[in-house]
Amino acid sequence: MESINIGLAGLGTVAQGFLEIFGQKKRVLSDKLGRELKIAKVASRSQKVDLEEFGAIFSTELSSLVEDPAIDVVIELIGGEQDALGLISAALKKNKHVVTANKEVIAKHGNSFRGEIDSGQLRFEAAVAGAIPILQGIGVGMVANDFSSITGIVNGTSNYILSNMSIEAASFEESLKQAQKLGFAEADPGFDVDGIDAAHKLTILMALAYGQPFSFDKVVTEGISHITSSDIQYASELGFAIKPVAVVRRSEDTLAAMVYPALVGFDRILSRVNGVMNAVEVESDYAGRLFFSGPGAGSLATASAVVSDLGLIARNQGSVYPSLMGTEKLGVSYPDQSTSCCYLRFDVVDEKGIFARITGALSDSGISIDEVFQKNRDGGRASIVMITHPAREKDLEDCLSNVGKFGELLQPIQRIRVLS
Ligand SMILES: NC(=O)c1ccc[n+]([C@@H]2O[C@H](COP(=O)([O-])OP(=O)(O)OC[C@H]3O[C@@H](n4cnc5c(N)ncnc54)[C@H](OP(=O)(O)O)[C@@H]3O)[C@@H](O)[C@H]2O)c1
Repeated sequence: MESINIGLAGLGTVAQGFLEIFGQKKRVLSDKLGRELKIAKVASRSQKVDLEEFGAIFSTELSSLVEDPAIDVVIELIGGEQDALGLISAALKKNKHVVTANKEVIAKHGNSFRGEIDSGQLRFEAAVAGAIPILQGIGVGMVANDFSSITGIVNGTSNYILSNMSIEAASFEESLKQAQKLGFAEADPGFDVDGIDAAHKLTILMALAYGQPFSFDKVVTEGISHITSSDIQYASELGFAIKPVAVVRRSEDTLAAMVYPALVGFDRILSRVNGVMNAVEVESDYAGRLFFSGPGAGSLATASAVVSDLGLIARNQGSVYPSLMGTEKLGVSYPDQSTSCCYLRFDVVDEKGIFARITGALSDSGISIDEVFQKNRDGGRASIVMITHPAREKDLEDCLSNVGKFGELLQPIQRIRVLS
């Protein structure tokens, strides 16, 4: 049986999951794939794992994987940006195949690999939605289709925080602490709660689904840290959950891509994707609406997708991603042209006439209200909460910047889009 020699970079969470699966399934996988799989070398900063059972050589030099002519596939699981970028690029230049779970490098530098890919393949299934084979699903399983939209919950940390705020009636800060305690959030949670990690993943989904270059800088990103437990409660009274969504929509020749916290109607399955779970909903012309869901992170779940990429390389399936490296076919627009319904919360001094002033200002800007209620609170304060009918982003923004100057306002206006 012909063999495939693997060079593994990193010995952290995902790499250890990969080694665990490999240790348990090596024989079965080799039989299924018709190729003998062998881990020839492991390179990482420190040797945290006994590699004896794999017969692999350990090195602290990442370059040793690239320089070794016997290595066919480099599996990059070190994370971070620059060292991983250097490793992937060097391996491709040496015509090695590369498997990576690194969404940051693919989203930000994916286009630069264009000139470096020759006979080697670059695969990154684990970079988006962990265990869910969404790139295979979109790139191969749905290749006949055009996509009108892709909507995902692709960041488990944000989803856990908003779910916890809902279930425990806890604040954002309390829920973040709980996520950190359970190992669902990093000590520095910025990438997750600011929407950057989800934007990396959306960039990859968008490139793959629409055959576009990677355009991370065009994804509009809004984090979740301004969501309060009151918003979650009021949204629930209105029939919605608040979820961290990543959405790309196509209208004619234009794509609009955004990551933001959204009100999602309880009648949608996405509203019930809770905790660290991920999900992706795809709207397509022939296959219709498809829904994928599963664990978006975790050692074994993510490693499962890494092994899947390795299997495709072993089967010599050819890369499904050449179109990613193509030229821009569709423009990417900013959302000020788009329309959406919005949830608005105005925390005000409860004075006579303020309700009418706010609704009047909205009406003067052509923004109509679908539902509205007022909650009186202690100390002569009130929250006016409403859902608007669809309004142009720019019109609403202009109107809110005007209302924001009203003296009765106690806090900045809360505005959360409703997922259409
Ligand atoms: N964890 C998940 O659930 C998950 C899910 C989806 C995707 N991913 C992606 O998978 C990748 C790996 O994540 P992870 O959670 O496994 O990371 P991790 O636990 O932090 O492990 C990273 C490993 O790489 C080593 N390393 C880091 N930089 C290095 C360098 N410059 N040279 C040599 N070794 C280096 C580290 O060594 P030391 O520990 O000795 O420093 C560690 O063994 C990331 O791109 C991540 O975004 C992770």
